Amino acid sequence: MTAAANELKPVLVFDSGIGGLTVLREARVLMPERGFIYIADDAGFPYGSWEEAALKERIVDLFAKLLVQYDPEVCIIACNTAFTLAGAALRAAFPQMTFVGTVPAIKPAAERTRSGLVSVLATPGTVKRAYTRDLIQSFATQCHVRLVGSQDLARLAEAYIRGDVVSDEAVMTEIEQCFVEMDGRKTDIVVLACTHYPFMANIFRRLAPWPVDWLDPAEAIARRARSLVPQVADAVHPDNFDFAVFTSGAPDFPTRRLMQGFGLKA
Ligand code: DGL
Repeated sequence: MTAAANELKPVLVFDSGIGGLTVLREARVLMPERGFIYIADDAGFPYGSWEEAALKERIVDLFAKLLVQYDPEVCIIACNTAFTLAGAALRAAFPQMTFVGTVPAIKPAAERTRSGLVSVLATPGTVKRAYTRDLIQSFATQCHVRLVGSQDLARLAEAYIRGDVVSDEAVMTEIEQCFVEMDGRKTDIVVLACTHYPFMANIFRRLAPWPVDWLDPAEAIARRARSLVPQVADAVHPDNFDFAVFTSGAPDFPTRRLMQGFGLKA
């Protein structure tokens, strides 16, 4: 499926799985006139434990095909693990395309924290990226930043959002390292540095040993995309357009139902 010649070009939203839907729902509010294409590289999921060179190559190769096939106005890489690794390579390989990235919200967290203790909850890939270390060096040297790499949380979020039961113990094991007490101060901000995690924010809030601000960058990413996508007077959303593509070619029934819930054909 592609946009008809007289229609505005669509916005392409990309993630390894369903996490990018947390960004898509904000992007749609701000760009109601645009069609949306959601790409889930579920054949490569989870991205968090991939070897870096192989994953970068996979993502760039995938976009070579996606850009030809869908000719989008802009691509939102709604995945920290993908963008912190391959963002620069994508921009270099496809200079004519606008890529809106997702990176750990370390700068806003450092600006807002009162205790000076900030945690970054992310995939193991994002935690070990040079990009993430550079963000801390550039914006948060005055803070104590705890990087928490979760092996399992993206998978748990996928299961949870599809309707499976996820135990509190399993979630707690993944998030408990985020809570730091030091010299009478406590962590007051946890950056959700994987787009899958906001789906579980209610569980995180309930299990947290004390209240913290769970920072979800989805709205900021959507605002950035809006600022780069031209506004066209009188344009209306193309009828019945939005759809999701899974690189496995075979999303299961709960996944297709989820996509329909987000107004995407799958
Ligand atoms: N949603 C992705 C992110 O923002 C990663 C999930 C995964 O594939 O491990 O980092």
